[in-house]
Amino acid sequence: MTDRELISEVTIRGYAVISTPATADDPFMAHRRVAQSLGLPDAYTPLLYMDSEVRAAVGQVGPYNEIPRDIKSVQPWSEMPAQTFHVDGLLEPLGGIKTTLLHCLTQAHSGGETELFFSCDAFRDLSATDENAAQSLLHPAALTRFATISESAPTRLRATGPAFGWVEGTLATRFSDGPTEIWNTSENPNLHRALEYLRGPALDTHRVQVRLEPGDMLIFRNDRVSHRGCAYQNGARPRQLTRSMYSSAPRHSPPPR
Ligand SMILES: [Fe+2]
Repeated sequence: MTDRELISEVTIRGYAVISTPATADDPFMAHRRVAQSLGLPDAYTPLLYMDSEVRAAVGQVGPYNEIPRDIKSVQPWSEMPAQTFHVDGLLEPLGGIKTTLLHCLTQAHSGGETELFFSCDAFRDLSATDENAAQSLLHPAALTRFATISESAPTRLRATGPAFGWVEGTLATRFSDGPTEIWNTSENPNLHRALEYLRGPALDTHRVQVRLEPGDMLIFRNDRVSHRGCAYQNGARPRQLTRSMYSSAPRHSPPPR
């Protein structure tokens, strides 16, 4: 696949999977290489990682992350629970992180798929059948996300905003639905119906699972697609991924003059 084809695939479909080897002494070299071929700027450090308390509590606060953060503490054959659907960038405004790269170094013994939920497509479907429910997701206080990294974090490190909206003319999502989210339904009663749809029928038609092999890299539009890691069991060597995030979407570089 050429760079041009890859950029088109990510732009049209919202994601792509490529195979690209990791460099042994620098696991993030592949990220830099792919980011460059996608016309992406330097990797982006999320707002959460810029907070001094978070920086003190968490080992990895740069734009490049190893998942899990501390692989030495992972026991062989241990089991990991599933994540809930989210977009990367807990404190970012809508569309703040447009692209995420996930590179698989070591696969899980079983499970460990990444599940993508095409939440913007689901929003469009909802708009066609229940306009008021769709509108409720655009409310400026529809969704609050908060960090649980320390005791004081949930009150201090939180971000409220619409769950969907238009950024630079493009529909964007921050649909996230788990233990770090509050849906503000009190002033917004139609939100119940929207959530019923997004948690139920929308998932039947708008999700896909991807199981990365070692060397596979998943590229997805974090501003258009929600995602979660599925439950897995580690093998003798723990499952390991690397991640980087970008504030821009992939784009074709202008032709040389
Ligand atoms: Fe994520």
